[in-house]
Amino acid sequence: MRGPHERPRRLRTTPALRRLVAQTRVQPAELILPVFVRDGLEEPAPIGSMPGVLQHTPDSLVAAAREAAALGVGGIMVFGVPRPQDKDAGGSCGLRPDGVLNAALRRLRDELGDRTVLMSDLCLDEFTDHGHCGVLTDDGRVDNDATLEVYAQMAVAQADAGTHVVGPSGMMDGQVRVVREALDGAGHQDVAVLAYTAKYASAAYGPFREAVASTLQGDRATYQQDAANRTESLRELRLDLAEGADMVMVKPALPYLDVLSDVAKAADVPVAAYQVSGEYAMIEAAAAQGWLDRDRMVLETLTSIRRAGAQNVLTYYAVHAARLLQDQG
Ligand code: PBG
Repeated sequence: MRGPHERPRRLRTTPALRRLVAQTRVQPAELILPVFVRDGLEEPAPIGSMPGVLQHTPDSLVAAAREAAALGVGGIMVFGVPRPQDKDAGGSCGLRPDGVLNAALRRLRDELGDRTVLMSDLCLDEFTDHGHCGVLTDDGRVDNDATLEVYAQMAVAQADAGTHVVGPSGMMDGQVRVVREALDGAGHQDVAVLAYTAKYASAAYGPFREAVASTLQGDRATYQQDAANRTESLRELRLDLAEGADMVMVKPALPYLDVLSDVAKAADVPVAAYQVSGEYAMIEAAAAQGWLDRDRMVLETLTSIRRAGAQNVLTYYAVHAARLLQDQG
């Protein structure tokens, strides 16, 4: 009896051998931690649908950013949550230098300098009373071009506050170009644009709505992409690159690895993927039941997202994963 000619199992024999031949690694330096800062909080507040994730006060945010940087996490993406009474139809509190997000960015840049990469969500949904990512027309539709003017001002306000990277996430057509032009016009040539390039209208953003106390009724299907479509993401990529994106993103991550793979093959800039709130919540919910092993699931999903082509991963597990990787040595 000669047995099989080829034995792939040979390279799986020991942990050391498996480590040697692993084609994909997850490194803290390539992870980005999304964080929430909420105006008017006395103490950090838990988010029910995202166990382990907090809405921060300015002080606890700085501490969290320091902790992430100390563990080698590559960057943080900051989302601001204003007080309900500060929301209006135009999202004006997102533009004010002393608004919750801009104030937090200024403080983070002051305290951390260039030790981490400071990124900011550039979108209106956290700041509008109707919860949409743009301003509305009289008949209630999201007005693409009027929104672009607001994004341009918001980009400059965030850059003035010290962000290294703006992340336009509203899926308005032409948003990368207006943001780039506004930054350049204000002398912020060095502030980079991480474009939310392929962003699908996903149920997986559910917990995020709680995290930012969103007031949205309905959905974002007229501006975010339809889950049924694949090549459309290559079109979005072409446009974002032509408009000046420095980095591009696919979002959500795990249900869209095919899209991520397409984008990663076609892009000549760094590609990120966002393991979103619902992906986090699914793992947490199952782990809490004892139905799966949280730590293995975290590393397996991050590895898979990297394997599909993402260099950078935005994940609420960034700090946890950095610790796990440290323990693994
Ligand atoms: C829009 C924005 C959203 C997320 C990131 N940026 C919400 C949305 O598009 O509805 C979702 C992130 C997550 O679910 O973790 N500002």
